[in-house]
Amino acid sequence: MADESYSFVVVSNRLPVDRVVDEAGNASWKQSPGGLVTALEPVMRAADGAWVGWAGQADLDLEPFDNAGIRIVPVPLSESDLELYYEGFSNDTLWPLYHDVIAQPSYHREWWERYVQVNRRFAEAVAGVSAPGATVWVQDYQLQLVPAMLREARPDLLIGFFNHIPFPAYGLYSQLPWRLQIIDGLLGADVVGFQRVADAGNFSRAVRRLRGYTTKSPVIEVPGVDDAPARRVIAKPFPISIDVAGFQELASRPEVQERARQIREDLGNPKTIMLGVDRLDYTKGITHRLKAFGELLADGSLSVEDVTLVQVATPSRERVESYRQLRDEIELAVGRINGDYGTISHQAISYLHHGFPREEMAALYLAADVMLVTALRDGMNLVAKEYVAARSDEDGVLILSEFAGASDELRAALLVNPHDIDGLKDTILRAIDMPRHERRKRMHSLRKKVAENDVSHWSDSFLATLRRARRTRAAWGGS
Ligand code: ADP
Ligand code: F6P
Repeated sequence: MADESYSFVVVSNRLPVDRVVDEAGNASWKQSPGGLVTALEPVMRAADGAWVGWAGQADLDLEPFDNAGIRIVPVPLSESDLELYYEGFSNDTLWPLYHDVIAQPSYHREWWERYVQVNRRFAEAVAGVSAPGATVWVQDYQLQLVPAMLREARPDLLIGFFNHIPFPAYGLYSQLPWRLQIIDGLLGADVVGFQRVADAGNFSRAVRRLRGYTTKSPVIEVPGVDDAPARRVIAKPFPISIDVAGFQELASRPEVQERARQIREDLGNPKTIMLGVDRLDYTKGITHRLKAFGELLADGSLSVEDVTLVQVATPSRERVESYRQLRDEIELAVGRINGDYGTISHQAISYLHHGFPREEMAALYLAADVMLVTALRDGMNLVAKEYVAARSDEDGVLILSEFAGASDELRAALLVNPHDIDGLKDTILRAIDMPRHERRKRMHSLRKKVAENDVSHWSDSFLATLRRARRTRAAWGGS
């Protein structure tokens, strides 16, 4: 056991902060991109525990440290770990497979072998800092083998797993050459959480088909083998959320509201500002959105004098080939649309390929009349929830893909199938022309929904389910 140990440990591939080094060689920490960090950061700030993960740069061997009230325990990854485990198996096998094969997944045995090795390293790091009987919460698809590895090494631990991305239907999941090992890895947890009811159902079906275990939602009966006793695993949905009050407070600050006004002015005060905020990822449907907008400009339904699209495309996984290609494709489309329809005074698309402070994100949400979330597949999509949380003026229209997990809750959005470009165009026009009373009614209902399930509700209900699992285990005679 290490010098320090904790009774609550979160482990994710990426830590909440990435180490960055500027041109002068000075190192600093910046918040990591993505929904996982957005959701877990406020949970961990309020908890007394440790966060185990990778610090965002190859070959960094750092001692544990505190950052913004969170104890950070770094796990080093080498350049070749990043290539095989992170860029390879995590982001070029599992990511496309779990997002319904929008891009073709690659299956390489060498990548899988490294995934196993790196998962073991994460499990060892967690075992090393977990106090006897500690609660460990494993996050996301990069670490699906960690629950079983931990259970074997430390049967005293209470283990939860949460999958931030979709879990695919069996017809797709069954492509995976290592489908059994992944199922067994996840079943090492006491509770396996998913974003949507459909994801939990897909997982239970995969367990039945591959292992033949009895499942009666939400319980999966895992039979005993050799020394390992029979166990019950709970698999159910826990839709993730954001720190609603924190985000509302941010958006209500006078300087953020002033910044929103400034953004409108800088864009030439168009009648309508539309906004997209996404990691530059092929799951987000950015090209579909650009196609719809380009066609609306081409057929004269919209003009650049009246409507501007602000597209924030956050850099992500830039060494993975499909992400490089997508960036080229998006930037070509943006360049074409701006070239064809822009004027000296009005650009069609304001395209931003970098990260922003949270204050600037909130100001962008406040400035946007129409928020476009057109993901082809998305576990949840926290951007949609942030937009709603920011709009205490009960204005603004959310266009939301029915393939984003958030559409299960945010029914009062304008729901779209982003593959249907004509449908998307009609919905954009409807959003732009929506009367104030309808905007208010829809936003009021969306805000009620988001307020009902904020991130502390998400983490509290997951952790309460875990605690109940401990009591059930004790009643069965386990530790
Ligand atoms: P994902 O987890 O796939 O990236 P989500 O929509 O669930 O997608 O979460 C994205 C999170 O990252 C949100 O909290 C959003 O505000 C944040 N984010 C996205 N782009 C940027 C950016 N350019 N700068 C700062 N934060 C960003
Ligand atoms: O849940 C989606 C996810 O993979 C999270 O792990 C993370 O929040 C985000 O996307 C960013 O991805 P990466 O860590 O690969 O940059």
